[in-house]
Formats: sequence, C-alpha cells, structure tokens
Amino acid sequence: MTPIDRFLTTADGALRALSGADHAARPIPQPSAAAAPLDPAQKRLSGALMRVNHVGEVCAQALYSAQALATRSDGLRRQFEQAAREETDHLAWTQQRLRELGAHPSLLNPLWYAGAFAFGLLAGRAGDAVSLGFVVETERQVEQHLESHLDRLPSQDTASRAVVEQMKADEARHAANAEHAGGSPLPAPVRWAMRAAARVMTTTAHYI
Ligand SMILES: [Fe+2]
Ligand SMILES: [Fe+2]
Repeated sequence: MTPIDRFLTTADGALRALSGADHAARPIPQPSAAAAPLDPAQKRLSGALMRVNHVGEVCAQALYSAQALATRSDGLRRQFEQAAREETDHLAWTQQRLRELGAHPSLLNPLWYAGAFAFGLLAGRAGDAVSLGFVVETERQVEQHLESHLDRLPSQDTASRAVVEQMKADEARHAANAEHAGGSPLPAPVRWAMRAAARVMTTTAHYI
C-alpha cells in the first residue's frame, strides 16, 4: 500500500469506529438462560457498564489501527488487522446491547479514539517487540476489567453477560497470541501509567 492508501484506510477505520457503521462477522453471543426483565436501576447500571465496554472497544480499534500503521512487518500488520476484525465484533455487540438497554455511547468517543491512537503510535514507534508487549498488557488489563464487570452486571442481564464472557475469552487469546509473537514485558511504570489512563477512561465513560 502507498502512504496515501494507508492514510485513507486509517481514516476509514476511525470513521467506522466512531459512526457505528461496522458490522459483526460473528453473531452476538446468546445467553444460556433467558434474560429476566430488569428494573430501571439495573437497566441504568447495565447501560453504564456496557458504555464503558463500548469505549474500550473504540479504543481497541484505534490502538490496533495505529499499531498496524506503525509496524514495518507485513506479517505483524496482518496479525494486528486480524485482531482488529475480532474487536469489530466486540464493538458491534456492545453497541447492540447499548441500543437494547436504551443507553447512549460515550459522547467523548472521538477523544478516546484520538488518545488511544496516539498511545498505539507511540508503542508502534518503539519497535515490534514493545508494540506486541503493549498488546499483551492492554489485553490482559481489559480481560481483568471484563472479569470485574461480570461481578457487577445484574445477574438477570444474561444478554450482556454472554457478550462480556465471549469478549473476555477473545481478549485472553489476543494477549496469548501477542505474547507468542514475541511481545516483550513492559516496565512496571509503563504498566501503572496504562492502568491510570484506563481508570480515567472507565470512570468518565460510566457517566458520559
Ligand atoms: Fe475487544
Ligand atoms: Fe482484544
């Protein structure tokens, strides 16, 4: 691809992630038990938690897009693009749940996308081993975060829980794949900074 092609592909990815134009390749995960009706407070809580998860997936699109742009390795670019396709399913599923719960996506999504894209470019510029290490750490943190949501989501909201369970399994696989591909462990201060940035994002996205 020429630099212009890359720029257009990157811009197209950003517009798709932010406009909700993306479609899932896999059907939305179905709960094993039928969903029971939620009371208004439970619906609000589920909506807030799924908004946080939707923001996480907007950021995943930005990170993978930036990292695919930054790497010089064709093989690694394909790996990032493949992972981004699975993240597109997550994006579409969380968006569907937001609609079903009557909740809105975060109003700050363009800001989250831009911030995550900058982080992804920084990681990508630091070389492939660091970039992969960044994926390992991000995916592990997201996996832990999804685990905490399984504790907080109302037990009646089996539909959201099924989505979060599948996402958690996918993120664990993304981390394992990146580690297998040669991701190097990140220094502790970088991991703490990533956690701090994620906390700002998740706390804010709970409300707006
Ligand atoms: Fe994801
Ligand atoms: Fe992932």
